[in-house]
Amino acid sequence: MLDMGSLPLANRLENLGSGPSNTYPLVVYYCHNCALIQLADLVPRNEMFTDYLYLTSASNTMVEHFDRYAETITRRLGLAITDKVLDVGSNDGTLLKAFQRRGVGVLGIEPAQNVASIAEKEGVPTITEYFDLKLANTLEKFCVVTANNILSHVGNLREFLANVAKVLRPDGLFVFEVPWAADVLRNNSFDMIYHEHLSYFGLKPLVKALGIAGMSLFDVEYFPSIHGGSFRAIASPSFKEPSPLVKEMVAREDKEADFWAVRDFSGRVPILAQRLREMLLGLKRDGKRIAGYGAPAKATILLNYCGIGRDILDYASDTTPLKQGKLIPGVGVSIVSPQFARTKPPDYYLLLAWNFREEILAKEQEFLDKGGRFVVPFPNPEVVDS
Ligand code: TYD
Repeated sequence: MLDMGSLPLANRLENLGSGPSNTYPLVVYYCHNCALIQLADLVPRNEMFTDYLYLTSASNTMVEHFDRYAETITRRLGLAITDKVLDVGSNDGTLLKAFQRRGVGVLGIEPAQNVASIAEKEGVPTITEYFDLKLANTLEKFCVVTANNILSHVGNLREFLANVAKVLRPDGLFVFEVPWAADVLRNNSFDMIYHEHLSYFGLKPLVKALGIAGMSLFDVEYFPSIHGGSFRAIASPSFKEPSPLVKEMVAREDKEADFWAVRDFSGRVPILAQRLREMLLGLKRDGKRIAGYGAPAKATILLNYCGIGRDILDYASDTTPLKQGKLIPGVGVSIVSPQFARTKPPDYYLLLAWNFREEILAKEQEFLDKGGRFVVPFPNPEVVDS
């Protein structure tokens, strides 16, 4: 549906002097059989995950979101100390710590050593392995299995879901969050598309995939401001009648995430990219200094696809210490700390971490009050001032 050309791996930040990054084709497909939007050119896993740089705790929005998540699930199921939640892809343990605060037992599975050890240090028991059949066979049964922003990364969905079903008690629930494909399409946020994200989900393909694993997707909650629009779905190993919202969202996907919606999106993407680049070049011609705000994985896609490099951005500021001192792949924009950025503030920040718009605009009120501005790329490039 959309050929984005050959682009570097979004999370594989460059080191100074390490030479140009490899690029890999990024082509989006639509499955007429199950309505899944997906990539078909898979990059070998060992090329993608060398250093893992994403920390859930890097934004207050996510820390608060996961706190409310634990509260909702604990209350809904009446979880107690004897119950145990398994979080697959537990990252730095942000969600599991929230369950622990409520007295619920937890276990995390996180294959990235550097991230898993942060969780362990903070008292979250974590297994540093991939969640595969071998591991699933060694685990006890859980009353809740969670997986947030993980399914998009899974190459073999059938196998993964079968393993989830294996470790779930008969009365247990599988709870997971993913960005909603309909929002990616509506927001024009093509930078959510990168090699590590193999699937872009609607509920429709998930109902089918969960059904194959013997589970039924029966409830959903929608969060418009999480990663640009996400849903939390709940599935059970026994049949449960889908809630009215499940049916409503599936019906919306029939119009908003179907073949034609993807086709329209593919037509809008190159136009938006050109408009954003021209807007920034216009600001440069007026003598303005521009920097990136945040260095999320999606910035690699946005900057490379739009052709926004060091000639436009002086640097990108990011709070994650692991990213600072490195370069955004392909375009070579340096990642600096917010402290450094405050010593050399730009006139305009290009909001690369646009999914935290509210949190960032509130945090940068002083920058805005002094006349600083943000360029927000999606749904259409716009300038935001105080
Ligand atoms: P995120 O959008 O969560 O992830 P992805 O890498 O999957 O696209 O990344 C947001 C990045 O923005 C992360 O590196 C932390 C950074 N950030 C800041 O620098 N300042 C902030 O105030 C916030 C909220 C995030």
